[in-house]
Amino acid sequence: MTLFTVIGNPVAHSLSPQIHHLFAQQFGRELRYTRSLSSPAKFARTVSEFFRYGGTGANVTVPFKQAALALCSQLSARAEAAAAVNTLQLREHGQLFGDNTDGIGLVADLHRQYGDLSAARVVLLGAGGAARGVIAPLLQAGVSSIVIANRTLASAQQLVAQFTPSYPRQLTALALSDMTPQQCQQALIINATSAAWSGQNLAIAAECLAATALVYDMNYGAQPTPLLQQAAAAGAQRSVDGLGMLVEQAALSFALWHDGLTPNTDSVLQQLRASLKR
Ligand code: ATR
Repeated sequence: MTLFTVIGNPVAHSLSPQIHHLFAQQFGRELRYTRSLSSPAKFARTVSEFFRYGGTGANVTVPFKQAALALCSQLSARAEAAAAVNTLQLREHGQLFGDNTDGIGLVADLHRQYGDLSAARVVLLGAGGAARGVIAPLLQAGVSSIVIANRTLASAQQLVAQFTPSYPRQLTALALSDMTPQQCQQALIINATSAAWSGQNLAIAAECLAATALVYDMNYGAQPTPLLQQAAAAGAQRSVDGLGMLVEQAALSFALWHDGLTPNTDSVLQQLRASLKR
């Protein structure tokens, strides 16, 4: 039986084992998918031991996506662009291949939740690793512009400088505190900050949230995320969490590990929603 794992910290509540078992069932396949708690000091050893003991592939989550990149001898173009790896695959001669399916997972879920992205004006909240990983996939999916709004303006400016040579005139940096309802008017607002991890609310005016076409939070949970609660209180037209992104990025990892098999993600997303509500 093939063996997979998700490596993270924390990792106890990861839904990845459930998702990958549901995918495997669709194809009548059996697999084992475990959770591996690691630490920055132990991460390289966690990875090497997992593959030494028969692992085929691993997902990597917070806070090890940059560390995972450093362990790979081969990288996909999208992992290189994101400077982070969320999917590891053991290849010939013990070589590790690293991919990043987060950004295209987000795009796939946005097609489900928002539809055609070609006219979308995106306001991206955050300028850390999670934000950097989705910029190129969003632009490649055809969004018309991205405003990177971050608490610390300098980090947003750095990201704009990094991506502008490849995508001229499409990116702007903004301090989160300077965001206006006009900038949010009919925009697709995407939360890529880690504020929720520390239980913090984002300092965004209710008028901004109310003006958007869709509030998309890359976070998810059994309860509505803090931003979704803010959006509901502000009277936002539509808001959705990142559970669909999680399922889509997992499907792309699954395809990489299983010779291109593409699972049905709609049914798995419905099953996960139902099980989270229980
Ligand atoms: P990740 O890899 O998850 O993106 P990160 O690289 O540490 O984590 O980045 C965290 C992002 O969340 C940053 O953009 C951070 O803003 P700053 O650059 O100003 O630190 C943002 N963030 C975290 N807590 C926040 C809060 N309470 N309000 C607004 N932004 C927050």
